[in-house]
This record gives sequence, C-alpha cells and structure tokens, in this order.
Amino acid sequence: MNDNKITEAEIERQEQITDMLRDILFIRAGNQQPCAYVRTYGCQQNVADSEKLKGMLEKMGCALTEDEAKADIIIFNTCAVREHAEDRVFGNVGQLKALKKKKPSLLIGLCGCMMEQQHIAEKIYKSFPYVGLVFGTHVIHKFPELVYNAVTSGKRTIERGYDDGEIYEGLPLHRDGSFKGWLPIMYGCDNFCTYCIVPHVRGRERSRRPATVISEARAMVSAGYKDITLLGQNVNSYGKGLDEETDFASLLQSVADIEGDFRIRFMTSHPKDASKKLIDTMAANEKICNHLHLPFQCGSDRVLKKMNRRYTREKYLEIANYAKSRIPDLSLTSDVIVGFPGETYDEFCETLELIKEVKFTSLFTFIYSPRVGTPAAGMEDPVSHEEKAKWMGELLRVQEGIAAERCAGMVGRTYRVLVEEQARDGVLNARTANNIIVELQAPAELIGSFCYAEITEARNWILRGKIVG
Ligand code: SAH
Ligand code: SF4
Ligand code: F3S
Repeated sequence: MNDNKITEAEIERQEQITDMLRDILFIRAGNQQPCAYVRTYGCQQNVADSEKLKGMLEKMGCALTEDEAKADIIIFNTCAVREHAEDRVFGNVGQLKALKKKKPSLLIGLCGCMMEQQHIAEKIYKSFPYVGLVFGTHVIHKFPELVYNAVTSGKRTIERGYDDGEIYEGLPLHRDGSFKGWLPIMYGCDNFCTYCIVPHVRGRERSRRPATVISEARAMVSAGYKDITLLGQNVNSYGKGLDEETDFASLLQSVADIEGDFRIRFMTSHPKDASKKLIDTMAANEKICNHLHLPFQCGSDRVLKKMNRRYTREKYLEIANYAKSRIPDLSLTSDVIVGFPGETYDEFCETLELIKEVKFTSLFTFIYSPRVGTPAAGMEDPVSHEEKAKWMGELLRVQEGIAAERCAGMVGRTYRVLVEEQARDGVLNARTANNIIVELQAPAELIGSFCYAEITEARNWILRGKIVG
C-alpha cells in the first residue's frame, strides 16, 4: 500500500519551527517584514513545488517579491533535465555574489532536482561559499527546519533525500495564479528512459489518493479556478501502488464530474500507457480539453528501444490516430529528442516523417544532452553537436510549415477561449481548449474569464482574433 505520507506529527513539528522563525526572520530583516524571492527552473512539477515553498515562506512571515535585490531570502528551485538548464543555474547563482556582499544577512538557498545529484550539490557547495542552504526534492517538507538551522547556526546547511517514497500532504501552498492552477496527482517516475535524469532525482513513482486529488480540485473550482492541469511525469500510470482500484481515466472522470465552469488539462502522457479508455473519457467530457501532450521522442524503432521507451512507432501512431478520430479538433503536442547517441541521419528522417504524418500543433524539441549516471551517457555518440543542430534546424522548418498551415485553417472560426494575460498594450493573450494562443484586442478586465473569439488573422503561427457574442 502506498500510504507513506509525511506524518502529521512531522508537519506539526515544522509548523512549530515556522512559528519560531517569524520572530527570528523579522529581527534579521532589521525589524521589518522579511522579503523572499523564489525563482523556478524546469517543469510544472517544480512550479508546483515552488508554490509549496512560497506557502511555507508566507507562513514564516515573509512577503513574496519579484525583485531579488529586495529579498532577505532567495531560493532557486533548479532543474537537471539538460545541461543548458544547469548552466543557467550556475550562471545565475554566480550573479548573487554581489547581493550577498551588500547584504550579509541574505540567505541564499538552492533546491530542486539538481541538488539531488551528489556531484552537483558538492560542486555548488564548493564553488559558491555564499550559498547557505542546499536541499533536494525529497526533503521539501523540512524547509522550515532547514531555514531555521541555517539562520540560527550561521553554518551552511545541506540536506538531500534518502527516502524517496514519500508524499507531501498538508503543506502550506501559495498558488501563483488565481484562475489557472496546477494540481500534482503523483510524484516521481519509474520509467528510466535511458537518457533521462528525472527518476534519479525525483525518486519512485507514487500517486496521491483519488479522494485527496478530487477534494483539492473541488476547492480550486470553488475558489474560482477555470483551468486546472493535473500533473505527473506519466499520468497514465496513475494509481499504481494504491490499495484502491483506480486509474487515470477514472480520476479524470471524477474531476470532470465536479460542478462548475472550468477546464481540465493534464500532462504528461506516456504513449506506452495511454489507453483507449483515456481517449474515450476525453471525448465524452466537454470539460476535459481537446489537447493531448503525447511525447514520442523519436520516430525510429531502433532508437526508441535504445531509449527504453517501450512502444514502437506503430503503437504510437495507433493511439495518436485513435485520439484524432475520437476527439474533434484535437491538438496533439509532443517532445522530441534529436541526436540520441548513435542515431543516424536516416533514423532522424523517420522522426521527420512522423511529424509530417501526425501534424502536431506544436513541439518541444531538444538536442540530446548527456546526464551523468544515466545509461545513455555511456553510449557511443559519434555525431557532432554541430551536425545535430543542423538536423534540428531541418525539423523546426518542417514543424513551422505544419503550424502555419494549421493556424491558417483556423481563420474565420469561433472558439471559446480563456483570457489569460496582457500580451502588450491593449492586447490580451487568450487560450483555446486545444491549447492555442490567440491575441485579442480587449480590455484587461476580461483576464480570467471565458469568452468567444473569432479568428480574424493568422500570421505564421500567431493568431489574432476578435471577441464575439
Ligand atoms: N515525463 C515526461 C518528460 C519529462 S522531461 C515524458 O516522459 O514525456 C521533458 C522532456 O525533456 C522529455 O520528454 C524529453 O524530450 C526531454 N529530455 C529529457 N532528458 C533529456 C536529455 N537528456 N536530453 C535531451 N532532452 C531530454
Ligand atoms: Fe524521464 Fe521517461 Fe520518466 Fe519521462 S517517462 S520523466 S522521459 S524517465
Ligand atoms: Fe527538470 Fe526536475 Fe522537472 S529535472 S524537468 S524540474 S522533474
């Protein structure tokens, strides 16, 4: 049974420490309310974790700020998925040195996926002596205690997780948005794709109980959330290890049954576990968006096998085509890796062919980046980065053509959109259910509400529209 939640006693202990921190941090900030800055790198899992860190910081009495220079506490929640993500963190931490010099009481903390890799945590600790706190993804619930130790001992504090089967329930939460929100349904990953660091830094897959997820979704709807994204590295295997019979399609159905005018999204779906039941549930429920993010990674069966993805090109196309046939106006999106070790140009061309066949709405494209400790990092990788970048250029040109064609086909049609944010003066960004952004000339008061938009113009893959009805 998977009920290894952080215990209530432990949560209570952290709350007591939080109470003590209120005075300590207030005094440290020069007898005024302390400010905290949290920067998030990486995926929505990290965004959701940062919302917990922000919730805990607020309970410690901190005001959240967007300005690093004002902060008394700076937290970087890091991502390890590719080298580029890590390089950005190293660069940005380097820039904090001057702030620490100006304000010696500043507490700089680094957490998240990078910190779960021993060699990185050690490098950070050695190279950046002004970083006072380093902690991994498995100990996020102990954040108050770690802050307490760091500020009261004056010593540098480092803590990484050892138990990777835990679930955090009952932690404070500060949601970034007021009408669009994330709802983690599971943590970790068991798939061990050979290129990927996530299972190594996020631990084993574990699902939250359906009742907990549903009641959180209900609370979000009551609080006015209009767009809720259920999160997990592989939502299609939701429920594994729970002592009750359930699966992702059933959970999705239960959330869709909640009364109210809202939309449901979810990510990520692993093709090996995407079921027809899931597609049928999407098709039968208007609240579930007609958008499926279904990463295929590569079009070649040989490479897919080397990646340990456990599906074939044929199986991928079968589920993608079934989804297209059942769900009107479906947007399919995907992640693609170019230049996996040993991939040949011919194999890359199979990826191109698959893209042309499926006609994805958009793609997240990555050049393969070796990750220490993963099997792929030890595979022979004869193709140069320069060559892989050329392949990537070819792929992007193909995808741009597909996206432009799709956008042109939308002109003249009317969609129900959720108005999300100001794009620039007088122009708002709104999102269709199938996850396409439309620019609207409309007043800012509409942000956070649904309206109907007729698409008036498509410029490459940028759509403009006007409000109707
Ligand atoms: N759980 C999700 C993906 C999470 S990581 C899934 O399985 O679909 C997001 C994306 O980053 C992956 O889909 C993959 O395309 C990319 N990625 C992961 N590791 C990578 C690596 N070492 N190099 C390049 N891209 C990588
Ligand atoms: Fe990484 Fe694969 Fe797990 Fe996705 S399913 S997080 S790519 S190991
Ligand atoms: Fe990055 Fe961790 Fe997400 S490695 S992609 S932030 S799970």
